[in-house]
Amino acid sequence: MKILILGSGAREYSIALALKRSKTDLELFFAPGNGATEKLGTNIKTQDIYVLSVYAKNKDIDLCIVGSESFLAEGVVDLFKQNDIPIFGPTKAAAMLETSKSFMKNFLKKYKIKTAKFLSTTNLSKAVQFIEKLTPPIVVKADGLCAGKGVIIAKTHNEAIEATKDMLSGKSFGDAGKLVVIEEFLNGFELSVFAVCDGNDFVLLPVAQDHKKLLDNDEGPNTGGMGAYAPSSLASEKLLRKVKKDIIIPTLAGMKKEGAEFSGVLFLGLMVANEKPYVLEYNVRFGDPECEVLMPLIEDPLELILASVQKRIRHTKINIKKEYAVGVVCASQNYPYKSSPKSEILVKDIPQDTHISYAGVSLEQDKLMADGGRVLVCVGIGEDIKEARDKAYKLCENVDFKGKQFRKDIAFQVIK
Ligand code: AMP
Ligand code: GLY
Repeated sequence: MKILILGSGAREYSIALALKRSKTDLELFFAPGNGATEKLGTNIKTQDIYVLSVYAKNKDIDLCIVGSESFLAEGVVDLFKQNDIPIFGPTKAAAMLETSKSFMKNFLKKYKIKTAKFLSTTNLSKAVQFIEKLTPPIVVKADGLCAGKGVIIAKTHNEAIEATKDMLSGKSFGDAGKLVVIEEFLNGFELSVFAVCDGNDFVLLPVAQDHKKLLDNDEGPNTGGMGAYAPSSLASEKLLRKVKKDIIIPTLAGMKKEGAEFSGVLFLGLMVANEKPYVLEYNVRFGDPECEVLMPLIEDPLELILASVQKRIRHTKINIKKEYAVGVVCASQNYPYKSSPKSEILVKDIPQDTHISYAGVSLEQDKLMADGGRVLVCVGIGEDIKEARDKAYKLCENVDFKGKQFRKDIAFQVIK
């Protein structure tokens, strides 16, 4: 079977590793991939979806898996479907749950799904009026995709107004910010919930938590994510029942009504406040680094993806292992501020029940070089969360590159 994976991060690498575990006779292709995916298959040096669809057709690709949202935003799923190439992910219209915050917020309101109180507008004076009614902190969001940077948590009314002005004028995020969403601030804890959907039905994956801040104790600047673990004991059965009934089921039904049936990964960024789950955001693909800890927990990830693509989730049994996974991101010296000099990655030994998922790496004369912000993720698997974490950190000690930095407290939320 020939599979094309779109993206270049540790997320895509971890999907590939998991697929190889599911089935041995796979031929893997990556676009654009990274220095480590080159060792798992063939890297295609383009991100142009038109070029990729021709390539996929010529190569008889049996399945395309979209890792990164940028391809979804461009409509890669629509294009591949038109060309009869099976593809895992939502259409461009369904991807609007992630690509437009204002679409998402209005959708939540229309289908009565709990979310922070908000106003979505292009008008500064309406924004100011709304801001003045809120108690700080106040959340200001750019409508479009901003690689995780389009959210400002303003400490004062003035700061919120300034952030809104900068967005509306196009100064801070270009066109992505010309429509803004202003929100009340919700106080609670965040969870990453993943449902693999086929338009009608879904499979819930273990609930994960991401660590968005650079430093221990959730200090320092925001990043793409410095680590994750799953399953999280913070997600009680009762909470999950609410999430299914009050969020996932109405989301799938609502998208169907909107004429944009949702297939692929529905990723809920939840804030749990007073035991109630609020949707902060939807993403329409696996989270990174959450994917790196979810993949090892799914018994047969290829079967899960095929069940979504072939619309047969209702009739497919997906087994989740009774194990825990922790992933620690090792980032380069200057991350997330600026790029760092390349340096060789040295791996002493891979202890049992651990593995590396590679992200910002390149291959030079067969040497693997750290060549990006988030370089790799050390993953440990265990029978409980502590064992998984100890294994992940043991692997971290065995991996080195110049300026390596990582958080020492991944999974602190559930390990006291
Ligand atoms: P988003 O991209 O919308 O998930 O926002 C990025 C991060 O900003 C989230 O992971 C939260 O930590 C924070 N955030 C966003 N919206 C809110 C809100 N209404 N209340 C509190 N924190 C928020
Ligand atoms: N880990 C958060 C994201 O992938 O957006």
